[in-house]
Parts: sequence; structure tokens; C-alpha cells
Amino acid sequence: MSAIVVFGSRYGSTKSYAEEFVRRHSLDAISFDEVSDLSNYDTIIYFGGLYAANVYGLKKTMKLIQSDQRLIIVTVGLNDPDIPKNAEYTEKNIRQILPNPLNDNAEIYQLRGAIDYKNLKPLHRIMMYFIYLKAKSDDTEESRQMVDTYGDMLSFVDFSTLDKIQY
Ligand SMILES: Cc1cc2nc3c(=O)[nH]c(=O)nc-3n(C[C@H](O)[C@H](O)[C@H](O)COP(=O)(O)O)c2cc1C
Repeated sequence: MSAIVVFGSRYGSTKSYAEEFVRRHSLDAISFDEVSDLSNYDTIIYFGGLYAANVYGLKKTMKLIQSDQRLIIVTVGLNDPDIPKNAEYTEKNIRQILPNPLNDNAEIYQLRGAIDYKNLKPLHRIMMYFIYLKAKSDDTEESRQMVDTYGDMLSFVDFSTLDKIQY
């Protein structure tokens, strides 16, 4: 069986998970923007950072995946996937863009990432500002946490959460 890890990471937290995963499983990892052919692999494990509920790079990578290949998608986002509402929302968005039968077979895992507001590119900083404004008017524990930590460096990266990926 041959497998490869493909990742889409803008600021590095998704890449760090992908690199730890390949270290554990003796695989290779490649960024989605450097891949043009995945036909030699039975299994593609796609690690992608979440940006406005989209998995960075997944749409482009999907065009290279056939329905007889095994697809494991691992998202990395700030929202807590242990809150069912968050996990369901992310999964729904992913499944909307996966064609059948790839959709039926794709396995999805969700991990938590990191953010350093000072390092964000201007557009991302503006997007996060609007998310912050919305969080200020929300009454959930997660929104309060977002408001409290807005502007700081925040990391939920935890390599032990890779254990849940059944590969
Ligand atoms: C502009 C922007 C939009 C984001 N949208 C989401 C989102 O929809 N859901 C989520 O859980 N996290 C979201 N995040 C947080 C990122 O997914 C998180 O920082 C992740 O670790 C980034 O991965 P990377 O460091 O590999 O780029 C967003 C971050 C930015 C800057």
C-alpha cells in the first residue's frame, strides 16, 4: 500500500501536524501547491488549515484524486471540534464540495491549530477582526475565549490528537 500526505498550510500549524504524522508513519509530505499527480498512491491523507470554513488547498487537490483512492481529510482550525456544532458545520462544508463516491468514502478528522495575530497578512487580519466583532455579540464560552485572546498568540496544537486518525 502506498500513501502520501498532502498539506495546505498558510502559517505553519497544519504543516507541523503533517510533518509529525509523516514522521510517525514513515511517509512523505508535500504541499498541495507542489503536487500535480497523485495517481501512484492508494491513500491520500490531506491536512488542511480552515479558512472561512474552507479547507485550504482541498478543492485543487481533489481534482487529482480518483474515486478508488482512499481519502483521509484532516482539518486544522481554531474552533473546538469537540463541540458538536463546530464539528458538524466543518464536516458539512467539506462534504458539500466532495463529489460522490469520494464523499461516501472520505474519512474526516478535525484537529485544533494556532494563530499569531501579529503575523497575519493584512486581509486575514481584517477577516479576523470581523470574526472578533461577531464573537463579541455571541454568548458562548468559545466566543468569550476568542474575545479574551484576540490579538495574542494562541496555540491549541497537540500532537497527541493525531492518535485518533485511523490510518
Ligand atoms: C482569516 C482566517 C480565517 C479563519 N477561519 C477559520 C474557520 O473558519 N474555522 C476555524 O476553525 N478556524 C479558522 N481560522 C483559524 C485557522 O484555521 C488556524 O489558525 C489554523 O491553525 C491555521 O492553519 P495554518 O497555520 O496551517 O495556516 C481562521 C484563521 C484566519 C486567519
